[in-house]
Amino acid sequence: MPTRIGTSLETAVRCLESGRLVAIPTETVYGLAGNALDPRVVARIFSVKGRPSFDPLIVHLSAAEEVFRYASAVPDAAQRLMEAFWPGPLTMVLPRRAVIPDIVTAGLPTAAFRVPRHPVAQALLKRLPFPLAAPSANRFARLSPTRPEHVMEQLAGKISYILDGGPTEVGVESTIVRVADDGKAAWLLRPGGIPAEAVEKVLGMPLLSPEHSHIQAPGQMKRHYSPAVPLMLVDDLAAWIGRHGIPDATAFLAFHTLPAGVVQGAVLSPSGNLEEAAARLFAVLHRFEKDDRVRRIVAEKVPETGLGRAINDRLRRAAAEPPT
Ligand code: TXA
Ligand code: MG
Repeated sequence: MPTRIGTSLETAVRCLESGRLVAIPTETVYGLAGNALDPRVVARIFSVKGRPSFDPLIVHLSAAEEVFRYASAVPDAAQRLMEAFWPGPLTMVLPRRAVIPDIVTAGLPTAAFRVPRHPVAQALLKRLPFPLAAPSANRFARLSPTRPEHVMEQLAGKISYILDGGPTEVGVESTIVRVADDGKAAWLLRPGGIPAEAVEKVLGMPLLSPEHSHIQAPGQMKRHYSPAVPLMLVDDLAAWIGRHGIPDATAFLAFHTLPAGVVQGAVLSPSGNLEEAAARLFAVLHRFEKDDRVRRIVAEKVPETGLGRAINDRLRRAAAEPPT
């Protein structure tokens, strides 16, 4: 099927209402969207992405109030987070009602919800009589798309329409939080577009790690997505170059300054701003991936605070060894 990029809300609505998939812009990354209440449509999302069925999807709602139709319990702590961060890049995992098909949640008794704040996503969701299930619009284990062209490169021929909302503003996926049913604890399942510190401030308690708890965080594979060329993550580029020199066919990804002598490289934010760095991250990796002269990427860690946590998380996963 031919894939078109366009700005027609009408076309997107028509496709989605007839059970087809559409790539849509959100403030974080582009999503591969379909009717979340139709199991056959959701099954197609998994097959188009090549995604394992144990990895549950996020349900995108048009407004915060809608959560009560799809979640069976919304603790006070979760409501405070909704008030503070919706619409926006925060996803909340809550007990689900039966209207959400099993295939969306990989059979879990919980579902992940978010209200995107991108004006095009908002306008689209308001026009539809159902919420949208949408994973990032990339092939499984590949880079997330922050521009319509990135979606085209990975999904051309597999979907009919890519709704163009320009480059995404935040650039990394949403922060995922699970609040305990009694509201007395909360877990950070994935660092993302809302800094963990901001979530903790609203909650008035520290976020826990799911690692040593009964909380399930499926889909958080160690090697999550990977550029087509190997990526190495180092503490400091200048120190690394001091030891190894500048090898051939190597591109360097710096936080704010490229070391002297580097010709193939990119800077995430010349002023050292973590929000700007997050917004550029995937576009720069896509560019390196397409460049025949680049056969290896050496990236440096950014400060582990605010959006830096999400950036380092994505770089660490990109750098993890492939499973053997
Ligand atoms: O910013 C984003 O969140 C983007 C845009 C398109 O909204 N979406 C996105 O979706 O990143 P995806 O499919 O790439 O990541 C969804 C992740 C799953 O891999 C899983 O880790 C978590 O959300 N998740 C979904 N449902 C869950 C549940 N019931 N319990 C725990 N984690 C869940
Ligand atoms: Mg993804």
